[in-house]
Amino acid sequence: MRRTNKWLLMLLIAFAVIQCIQPARNKSGQVLQTDITNMYEVPADVQRVLKSACYDCHSNNTRYPWYSYIQPAGWWLAHHINEGKEELNFSDFGSYSLRRRISKLRSIENSIHDGSMPLSSYTLLHRDARLTEEEKRLIIAWVGGLRD
Ligand code: HEC
Repeated sequence: MRRTNKWLLMLLIAFAVIQCIQPARNKSGQVLQTDITNMYEVPADVQRVLKSACYDCHSNNTRYPWYSYIQPAGWWLAHHINEGKEELNFSDFGSYSLRRRISKLRSIENSIHDGSMPLSSYTLLHRDARLTEEEKRLIIAWVGGLRD
């Protein structure tokens, strides 16, 4: 076998092998007592935006895209979810101290304002998660109302 063919075959085998290592799924299917909707008034239009643009990484329920079943894409996604949830978990918001809640609300406002959230690597594939100017205003106004 030619040298390049050997390398290709090895790469193919490695790709096949890593498919067996599927990360755990972030899908509780439940709304916890600590969910933000049980803590604060979250109007339906705000909830719709948060669900489509933020919940995949900041809640206990991710809607998994097809590519999450293909490694290493699934690992990369799992890493984002773990990191995102650690920083902010809407399913767990009620367990935060008042101080932490206020600081998170302020970070949400900032992240929408400067466009750092949702992550651009995410909106590249999830076009429905791109926020319109109106949706941005909606979230900022909602967060502002909660902090007052
Ligand atoms: C693809 C996953 C993903 C999506 C979708 C996403 N985030 Fe994030 N978010 C992260 C990750 C990862 C971090 C932690 C690392 C960082 O700050 O970049 C983070 C951090 C944050 C932080 C910082 C928390 C802190 O205390 O400083 C806020 C606030 C935030 N996200 C809000 C949002 C909001 C609001 C949305 C929806 C409009 C959203 N995120 C959508 C992955 C995501």
